[in-house]
Amino acid sequence: MQFGHFDDAAREYVITRPDTPLPWINYLGNEEYFAIVSNTAGGYSFFRDPRLRRLTRYRYNNVPLDSGGRYLYVRDDDTGDFWSPSWQPTKGDLDEYTCRHGLGYTIIESQRAGIDVETLYFVPLGETLELWRTRVVNQRDTPARLSLFSAVEFCLWDALDDATNFQRNFSVGEVEVEDGVVYHKSEYRERRDHFAYFGCSEAPVGFDTQSDAFLGPYRGWDRPLAVEEGRSRDSIAHGWAPCGSHHLQLELEPGEARELVFVLGYAENPHDAKFDPPGSQTIDKSRVLPILARYREPAEVEAAFVRLRDYWTDLLGGLQATTPNEHVNRMVNVWNQYQCMVTFNLSRSASLFESGIGRGMGFRDSNQDLLGFVHLAPARARERVLDLAATQLPTGGAYHQYQPLTKRGNDAIGSGFNDDPLWLILATGAYVKETGDVSILQEPVPYDNEEGSETPLYEHLQRALQYTLDRLGPHGLPLIGHADWNDCLNLNCFSETPGESFQTTYREGGSAESVFIGGLFVLAADELAAIAERLGDDPEAAAYVAAGELMSGTVRAQGWDGEWFRRAYDNAGEPVGSSANDEGQIFIEPQGLCVMAGVGVDDGLAARALTSVRERLATKHGIVLVQPAYTRYHLELGEITSYPPGYKENAGVFCHTNPWIVIAETLVGNGDAALDYYLRTNPSSREEISELHRCEPYVYAQMIAGADAPTHGEAKNSWLTGTAAWNLVAITQWILGIRPEHDGLRIDPCLPADWDGFTAERDFRGATLHITVHKQPGTRGRVSSLVVDGERIAGNVVPVQPAGSVVEVVAEIEADGAARTDGRVELGGAHQGP
Ligand code: BGC
Ligand code: NOJ
Repeated sequence: MQFGHFDDAAREYVITRPDTPLPWINYLGNEEYFAIVSNTAGGYSFFRDPRLRRLTRYRYNNVPLDSGGRYLYVRDDDTGDFWSPSWQPTKGDLDEYTCRHGLGYTIIESQRAGIDVETLYFVPLGETLELWRTRVVNQRDTPARLSLFSAVEFCLWDALDDATNFQRNFSVGEVEVEDGVVYHKSEYRERRDHFAYFGCSEAPVGFDTQSDAFLGPYRGWDRPLAVEEGRSRDSIAHGWAPCGSHHLQLELEPGEARELVFVLGYAENPHDAKFDPPGSQTIDKSRVLPILARYREPAEVEAAFVRLRDYWTDLLGGLQATTPNEHVNRMVNVWNQYQCMVTFNLSRSASLFESGIGRGMGFRDSNQDLLGFVHLAPARARERVLDLAATQLPTGGAYHQYQPLTKRGNDAIGSGFNDDPLWLILATGAYVKETGDVSILQEPVPYDNEEGSETPLYEHLQRALQYTLDRLGPHGLPLIGHADWNDCLNLNCFSETPGESFQTTYREGGSAESVFIGGLFVLAADELAAIAERLGDDPEAAAYVAAGELMSGTVRAQGWDGEWFRRAYDNAGEPVGSSANDEGQIFIEPQGLCVMAGVGVDDGLAARALTSVRERLATKHGIVLVQPAYTRYHLELGEITSYPPGYKENAGVFCHTNPWIVIAETLVGNGDAALDYYLRTNPSSREEISELHRCEPYVYAQMIAGADAPTHGEAKNSWLTGTAAWNLVAITQWILGIRPEHDGLRIDPCLPADWDGFTAERDFRGATLHITVHKQPGTRGRVSSLVVDGERIAGNVVPVQPAGSVVEVVAEIEADGAARTDGRVELGGAHQGP
């Protein structure tokens, strides 16, 4: 069952009923002002930091779900009937309803009793505000007398404090209302120099700024008294819960349409010029009034919307593919790239599953997010690499997270996640290969943001690699520290206290080792070797190649279990992820990473490991993280065993890891398996099971419940996941095989047998490449000839083309045999699922 459909031409997902299994959200804003908006207008807005600069209030974990939003109420002033055109919060019946989530905008349109209301929500490029453009049309054949009420509830800026510190907060709320514009200025009198404003393009007949007055006693947002009675209270908030509401009256002839624009914005004033007149307590509004005036003009609003649409057309135009599979096309061309922008912007901070309070920008997360983002806005990626490197410590280690507002490392979580620094090498490599900009390697970057400690970025990368070499354990494998990529494999934690954080509890001197970091190290050493070579530093390059080979040997000698790669050694030196274990015998992560690093590709270990993945971990809803699932708490393993079987890291389909197996399959030449696995978690290909999947069908979720879970196939934690970046890399760089390298763009597809090729457009270092790949259906093989603008070239790397040029690239795939399968991969017997 579906709750909507893709409109591919418009690049929208069209939701056709409001009661989706979960709120299906979208993101507005790209740089500083961000907003979450659900298909029923729920969600909240913030400036840069969702915890410290939250504009509007949102109640997570509320019933019903999704309380707090950008609400409108329509009231028929002749009958007293009122409703929300976005369904929530009144949830009154609508005769028609659609929600179109597009790229950076959402349009909710509905009709009731012959009144059509369509609201477009978006954040104009370069602004710190959001616009709601509302069009009301009277489709009746009689005149309509209507009231329209707007409503937002303000958050008192710090979202955590706002949700907990009532003894103070009920007394600090302050507002001003001037010319119908509501200004929220709690704490502006003291240290804050910022405020929010909420205006409308038409003069309201009334307003409210105190939630209690608007709602009436013991009422919720579903039944505000002001709306029921058709009369605002003109309330001024003194403490309690400041809100912003306008009351507009519209008289519409049959067929008549009216357009109104609401502006909700964030503004800052210079600290010593924030009051007008100086010495008063009144906000200086001189910076905001011109903005309000601008968006009173419908033409300005339309132009800003056109600019936003053009911006996305332009951005996505740099990478487009037409393949025989619509789920591939739609995700690659639109939604997966879009999600990569969102994860790049917000890391794991604000979604319906991340409260915007707990976590800053993750070090490993942001480095991986960058892999799927770098082609979209390389200048922003460059800045991100440098920001991340500046939170590295002199040891080469890194803060696990940094705060978006200050860009400083987060002391609360600290350092010691021993995979972290290696991801910086992969991110930097991706940036340099995409752009050719080697100058970044010479940029002076401090450690721990300490002025005076700068070294070139290149040295940061060298120290990152050295960090691993300085921390090898008894088997010669990297020490895991607090945890590696799998935050829940806490091998040096031993927590027996309920509620204690698995992330920070740590037994000093822990000697647990990670095979996964071994594989990651090999990958990073190769990447750094290529960078060193690029810089002409041949001795260093040779040293990194040698270090990688040594580690690869250690992984093969100490990390191979017989049929797959082991996961780790625990603090007592016992293997984890081995047939010697009774639970948790095989983990997905080392199979993916070690094969991606080339470990065992030449001697058959890689192929054997992937067979084990197929036999033991693959389900029809994706590949689970571990098998058999842990059924009880293991003190020596930590949080992974805290989850019931089939959820999260304990044998859920932890989607982030699936593209690693996709890539690994291409490395052993199995395009059928690669595409098959890719499609199992592809949200578009799961659209038809939306009732089971429950999350949005246009973006990846972090997890799909595994075969051990009663809810096998149900997704959770959509949007903010490294799954987005890795899937884009897997499908575009490894299955389609269009892969940036230092010397050019490699064209190395590994396609499923039944495809006859594909075409793609790829901007690369200022040139536009039109790529056509031909293949005989029913065959498998790799590129045998590459023709660039009519000229056959050796190998399969298109050399860097002059900026501005448009180049035709034609690749032929020569059959090296008939297809071995019908395109499906056999599932392991135990995991067919429902
Ligand atoms: C989750 C992990 C996450 C970790 C860090 C755990 O509860 O299961 O996926 O990485 O928290 O916040
Ligand atoms: C989510 C975290 O954000 C990420 O850093 C981690 O690698 C995965 N969970 C796996 O535990």
